[in-house]
Amino acid sequence: MSPARNAGHQARPPDFSPREFRASLGMFATGVTIVTARTASGELAGLTASSFNSVSLDPPLVLWSLAQAAGSMAAFANGQHYAINVLAADQQALAERFAARDVDRWQGVEFVEGVSGAPLLTGCVATFECFNRSQYTEGDHVIFVGEVERCSRRAAASPLLYHGGRFYTEHPLQGSQADPSAPQAPDDRFVGSYLGYLLGQANHAVYRDFENAITAQGLTHIAWRVLAVLHDAALSPDEPAGVAIGQLAHDVLAKQPTVTKLVQRMAEEGLVALHADAADQRRTLVLATDTGQRIAAALIAQAREQETTLLARWSPREAETLKRHLQRLAQGR
Ligand SMILES: Cc1cc2nc3c(=O)[nH]c(=O)nc-3n(C[C@H](O)[C@H](O)[C@H](O)COP(=O)(O)O)c2cc1C
Repeated sequence: MSPARNAGHQARPPDFSPREFRASLGMFATGVTIVTARTASGELAGLTASSFNSVSLDPPLVLWSLAQAAGSMAAFANGQHYAINVLAADQQALAERFAARDVDRWQGVEFVEGVSGAPLLTGCVATFECFNRSQYTEGDHVIFVGEVERCSRRAAASPLLYHGGRFYTEHPLQGSQADPSAPQAPDDRFVGSYLGYLLGQANHAVYRDFENAITAQGLTHIAWRVLAVLHDAALSPDEPAGVAIGQLAHDVLAKQPTVTKLVQRMAEEGLVALHADAADQRRTLVLATDTGQRIAAALIAQAREQETTLLARWSPREAETLKRHLQRLAQGR
């Protein structure tokens, strides 16, 4: 069905001022998006928009509206694709910047290119990559309907909220006791939200591609962990003579007899050297040999590279917060 007008009828003239209208609209709380595009000549376009909404599930359609007077109108009206980036609670500054005039909105902004070239901002809670399906001029705005080609989200991330002309960075439900009798959205079901399951899945995502690098060096997973711990120890002034087997077992999450057997095998393979602790002859210390260090260094470089790829769409602050929380969890705090 094409756009239909209510022909033959007319609206009553408004009995409210523009201010009253805006204030009433402000009672509708929304999220905040930045709509982005790459023009045919390669320029970046983007603006803050809260007029985003869903339209249809099948086909997947969304809408947003743009002021006719907007400087970026030509970029969006003429482009084939755009991306709708739903901002996270810690992205208020970005929302303000992409609504401001006379600033370089893109300076220092991290993004990756979407499937059709539209910029996907790092650190958002969701992105919708849209084909520019249709446009409807209504009043002083143009309504853009986008056909969603790709969408992604960060589960458990908090969106930035907007209401009454103000930003809200704290989600009202954050930290509150959820009502256990409330119906649960699919993502809140036990399996998808259980910490153990999430950690298992995350572990799989982290190691999926790195696993091959470990086996290519002829190592088992524990042997890789042993080499990584010994590599760190060699850089630390506290353990110049090596790491005690008990400490090593603790660090690589294995039983002491298992690690004792493993390091003996690794010593035969020339990856580590064992010697008695000068301060306590009953204690065996383990050091990586030059070969062991070289293999560890190569694997660590690969691990770091793979981590960077995995976290490419996270802001540095998010990545650091994630690691801090994981450390806290591991330490039982
Ligand atoms: C929270 C927020 C929501 C906004 N939503 C919209 C919107 O939905 N549509 C729009 O045209 N402008 C919206 N704006 C205003 C634009 O971001 C602003 O006018 C911007 O300067 C337009 O950029 P341009 O002139 O480069 O296109 C919003 C601003 C803020 C702060």
